[in-house]
Amino acid sequence: MEFLNTSIGRKIVMAVTGLCMVLFAVVHLIGNSTIFVGPSGINAYAEHLHSMPLPIIMVFRAIMLALFVVHVVYGIQLTIENRGGRPSDYAVKATRKATFASENMIWTGLLLFVFIVYHLLHFTFRATPGLTLVNDAAGHFNVFAMVASSFSSIAGAGIYAVAMVVLFMHLYHGIQSLFQTFGLANGNTLPTITKAGALVALVLFAGFVAIPLSILFGIIKG
Ligand code: HEM
Repeated sequence: MEFLNTSIGRKIVMAVTGLCMVLFAVVHLIGNSTIFVGPSGINAYAEHLHSMPLPIIMVFRAIMLALFVVHVVYGIQLTIENRGGRPSDYAVKATRKATFASENMIWTGLLLFVFIVYHLLHFTFRATPGLTLVNDAAGHFNVFAMVASSFSSIAGAGIYAVAMVVLFMHLYHGIQSLFQTFGLANGNTLPTITKAGALVALVLFAGFVAIPLSILFGIIKG
């Protein structure tokens, strides 16, 4: 347990929790993409998720919440520690160039924290104003109508578009950083790992941002 209080211990925790959340984001994007089929696609997908046994859903949510909280708390601790002047250690050292994304991980991370709280209030707790909360013809909750009502205004779609730019910046550095922490990057592999990380970040950005923008511009219609 003492290990978790070292700089490299904290980095490994950040990398493992971060990787789990990236995998969640990939699965979430694949699921959300059913919206391009139209109302029947995303409503059937949501119905399928909600028909899973409640204990499984709750355990999954508790694990995700724990990963998220640990990632945020350790991220804040690491930043305070690094700004205090202690050198940060990757498992294998490779030459790194500071980028805007790498210098601002704490700020993009905190902005994502605010976005996730908003997103949960929005679509999970459905507590934000102006949402269309109705059932579809089959009597199931109409997720499509809720999402479409949110993204039909510039402000509603704009919040998500800006948040996805922040997500892109965070993952642009975060994905290659986790490979370094796991000791998989060296001078030879770092350029490829950096490009692959940027590509994953770009695909997630493009996929997520396409949803609010397609609704705003009438490409996806109910
Ligand atoms: C355009 C972008 C997005 C859309 C349209 C969207 C849509 C949704 C919807 C409809 C739900 C509620 C699912 C339900 O209860 O049936 C949800 C839940 C959630 N979303 Fe997103 N999402 C987006 C982006 C993101 C991003 C970027 C993240 C974080 C990486 C994220 C994380 C979550 C989490 C943690 C939940 C709660 C899952 C649960 O209820 O167990 N979402 N999202």
